Amino acid sequence: MELDETYMLRCLQLARRGMSWVSPNPWVGAVLVNDFESGAKPYPKHEKILAEAWHARFGKAHAEQALLNSLPIDFDYAGTTLYVNLEPCAHVGKTPSCANLLIEKGIPRVVVGMLDPNPLVAGKGIDLLQSAGIRVELGVLEKDCMFLNRRFVVNQLHKRAYTMLKWAESADGLMDGMNQNRKVISGSESHHWVHEQRAMIDAVLVGIDTWQKDKPRLNIRHGLQGVMQANIDLPHVNKNPVRIVLDRHLRGQYDQESLARSDGNLLIVYEEGVAIKSPAAASRNGITKDVNSSLPDGITTITKTGKDIKSAESQAYLLEMPKQYSMPMLMKALLELGIGSVMVEGGAKILSMFIDAGCVDEVHILRSQTLVLEKGLQSPVWTGPLLTQESALGNDAHWSWYSPTSK
Ligand SMILES: NC(=O)c1ccc[n+]([C@@H]2O[C@H](COP(=O)([O-])OP(=O)(O)OC[C@H]3O[C@@H](n4cnc5c(N)ncnc54)[C@H](OP(=O)(O)O)[C@@H]3O)[C@@H](O)[C@H]2O)c1
Repeated sequence: MELDETYMLRCLQLARRGMSWVSPNPWVGAVLVNDFESGAKPYPKHEKILAEAWHARFGKAHAEQALLNSLPIDFDYAGTTLYVNLEPCAHVGKTPSCANLLIEKGIPRVVVGMLDPNPLVAGKGIDLLQSAGIRVELGVLEKDCMFLNRRFVVNQLHKRAYTMLKWAESADGLMDGMNQNRKVISGSESHHWVHEQRAMIDAVLVGIDTWQKDKPRLNIRHGLQGVMQANIDLPHVNKNPVRIVLDRHLRGQYDQESLARSDGNLLIVYEEGVAIKSPAAASRNGITKDVNSSLPDGITTITKTGKDIKSAESQAYLLEMPKQYSMPMLMKALLELGIGSVMVEGGAKILSMFIDAGCVDEVHILRSQTLVLEKGLQSPVWTGPLLTQESALGNDAHWSWYSPTSK
């Protein structure tokens, strides 16, 4: 592997530390390296790496800015190369333009993994750097950089939340048995994998029947072994994803117990025309309890408010969608609320709606090799391209597919 690729790989490792904290911004890591040939002195701590940083939180310093901030103000950048997996921004937003910061510091060489996927800004950062006389290499490990930021790419190109489908099925293709109690289908390795995904995603989504029957917690409970194995230490605690329930008629039970199953906020999506009644009003009017009478007190209806509903508050919010809204419409509305990625966890009907609408960027099926249910709920029929088998998760086979936009 070439040196440029080695340092770009390090950028990708650092970038993932942003976990779900930076969304809907991209994952970006930056590394500043000494070029010995130009005579600069090695930093005492590392042989060649002078500094490294990553974008850690939405609204906070971009990776390049965080890296520059970590060095003394009078640091001599002569003979250095800066590596970054995404084109430095050229616009002044919540933070100053990264391209201008690099120019100000006099960094002579910048190696970039991929262009910004937003067609309106792609190439502008590179142009700024080159016009200032900086040597720029573009496209080092480009495919890996695109894959790492596949969610951001989909957000930018399609203006909707990235959609990942995931379900567990028995060896005979069933998602649940006939019993009233939920059947645990996958093994502990699969559970760990799912919980790692939850740590990286903004929201998890289920249908109302899954919400009612399984009473799922939809939080992060199991260790993040895979993340550790990938040599990514966890700089800050995980944030539970927002829980989304598709309940177009508002027939679910949303009492304090269900709210408290996770400190991730709860977003209940219903269709326009459904009357919302508070518990007090419901009892006053003598309305029976199962007609949306169990919405928690203080529930807030949100539209496109720009409110950050990803903060962990264990609050419930209502999102009204038009009648017979489509799944792409929903994903668009979610991105407008700042939710950049969603893992759809079931049940079969809701998963099938996403498949039928072609609103899928990534799919994962965890198939038990041992459990046979014989009768029960059929898994959704995957009508997309061929799935690829990944390494097994314990006793479960892991089949997946990623859309070409994300590859
Ligand atoms: N193995 C796994 O990975 C896994 C994961 C999750 C769940 N499960 C199992 O799956 C079962 C539940 O799955 P399910 O397929 O019966 O139900 P589901 O997919 O959880 O929920 C389906 C219901 O959602 C409602 N809905 C809400 N918004 C909708 C919309 N925009 N368009 C259409 N329908 C909408 C519909 O009810 P209304 O018509 O009343 O609106 C529909 O019947 C449970 O047994 C659970 O244990 C298994």
